[in-house]
Amino acid sequence: MTGERKIGIFDSGVGGLSVLRQLTGLLPEHSIIYLADQAHVPYGPRTLEEVQAFSFEITRWLLMQHCGEIIVACNTASAAALHKLRKAYPNIPFVGMEPAVKPAAEQTHTGVVGVIATPATFQGELYASVVERFASGVTVLEDTCPGLVEQIEAGNLEGDETRRILEKALFPMLEKGIDTIVMGCTHFPFVIPLIQQITGPNVRVIDPAPAVARQAVRVLPETLQQPQGDRSIRLYSTGETTGLENLARTSIKETFSVHTIRWNADNHLPLS
Ligand code: DGL
Repeated sequence: MTGERKIGIFDSGVGGLSVLRQLTGLLPEHSIIYLADQAHVPYGPRTLEEVQAFSFEITRWLLMQHCGEIIVACNTASAAALHKLRKAYPNIPFVGMEPAVKPAAEQTHTGVVGVIATPATFQGELYASVVERFASGVTVLEDTCPGLVEQIEAGNLEGDETRRILEKALFPMLEKGIDTIVMGCTHFPFVIPLIQQITGPNVRVIDPAPAVARQAVRVLPETLQQPQGDRSIRLYSTGETTGLENLARTSIKETFSVHTIRWNADNHLPLS
């Protein structure tokens, strides 16, 4: 194992699979470790400080597993910790999520765009800075879709409750003329088919995951340029693994293994 280099990726739960499914095709030979912090999902209603502490501990654990690049496949964790993680580990490339307000502002014809993301993401400086830099002259409507992350965690991608939550968020945006909607949470791309049913085909949905996966390939460090050993995709959950396994089975088109890892009483992940 020593010297082996992998790609680490984490989220509060299943959402980061929307990034992982893009990455597996782009990097068919690298070994990947995915951690879903399902003991703490949802991150969205938590404080940025708390999410930052989880993100640091998960990063420490991924580095112990010989990860040479880390993808923060969670907008909330990116808002809370990305900047500080880069500072703390200057030799590790971190790839994070940034609400895709820039392409939305560039592509809108009506001048009205919607963003759906968690409360913590909207509170972070990262979001404020992308709106300030890229959305001048554009009306940006926001909604946190309360309960949607939980429905997606439960595998409920098209049921009545999921539809109700989305309609409540999207109908007022449609009335105000949105023609573009940004997935500001990595869980939400899994309900794009339902979103498009509600909005109709004339509203453009922006999922940043393909661009993030491409960025992860662009910034691969030298140690990861030549993948070593057999490819493995290992998924870890700090909670109940069923939802992770089920969604991975439909979204990851190759063999993977699923494991459990538990937070200690002192808020650390064991170094296995
Ligand atoms: N998937 C996450 C995000 O992109 C977090 C959702 C949550 O745990 O609230 O923001």
